[in-house]
Amino acid sequence: MTADPTYRGFALDAETALALLQWQAELGADEPCLDAPLDRYAMPDRAEPSPAPATAAPQAANPRSPVRDEAEDLVARAEAMATAATTLAELAAAQEAFDGIELKKGARNFCFCDGNPAARIMIIGEAPGEEEDRQGRPFVGRAGQLLDQMFGAIGLSREAVDAERALYITNVLTWRPPGNRRPEPAEIAMMLPFLTRHVELAQPQLLVLMGNTPCIAALNQQGILKLRGKWTTAFGLPALPMAHPAYLLRTPLAKREAWADLLSLSARLEG
Ligand code: URA
Repeated sequence: MTADPTYRGFALDAETALALLQWQAELGADEPCLDAPLDRYAMPDRAEPSPAPATAAPQAANPRSPVRDEAEDLVARAEAMATAATTLAELAAAQEAFDGIELKKGARNFCFCDGNPAARIMIIGEAPGEEEDRQGRPFVGRAGQLLDQMFGAIGLSREAVDAERALYITNVLTWRPPGNRRPEPAEIAMMLPFLTRHVELAQPQLLVLMGNTPCIAALNQQGILKLRGKWTTAFGLPALPMAHPAYLLRTPLAKREAWADLLSLSARLEG
């Protein structure tokens, strides 16, 4: 939208602008975009540093790049903010306030956790999708409904008050990536200090790594179809990688293996 008082022939007062926006949302538009592509890398704050003057020291003498320095600074800032938090509420406030991640600008809601923080099991997913972004809670869309059914089948629920039967749920990213694209390595690196602290403060007994992204974040490994079903250690705790429910929705045949993983989890809890 522009500051122009008209837009394609409409008088663009606040009410009309809102009505136009709502109309587009009803038609299914869920991402703002411009008429022409915007090259963000060419914008002044993102532009590559200008070539070094002829008199500057050769590159080999200073192998650090400003872009890498900036990324490392952001991770260090995330670490400092996460470590300073002593409760889950403080951590949520710190993570929400952290401005280093660009995704925050495009997301509607901060999506920190759902379920019972006293649960023995903590599920770590990838990132909020459209419905999660709308509600500010993880796993509340179609994949989340399947997740609830899956864990319900072994007697666990995010609504349970009894810690023995409860689930606690979070994601690697707390802000929705545009168009549900995969999280980028830099985004995972920036959120990892918060996730690490989240696990420390929630103190679950077991972790479920739901899909590839939490395996990348917690294990530095990917290939969920090979990793799934094999108990490992993440953040110092027993952890079970499982196929993501969104994958199971697309690949119903894989539900058989997911059921085996749920039984393994249930046996571990009973044991
Ligand atoms: N997929 C995820 O990994 N997390 C959510 O919260 C929703 C979908």
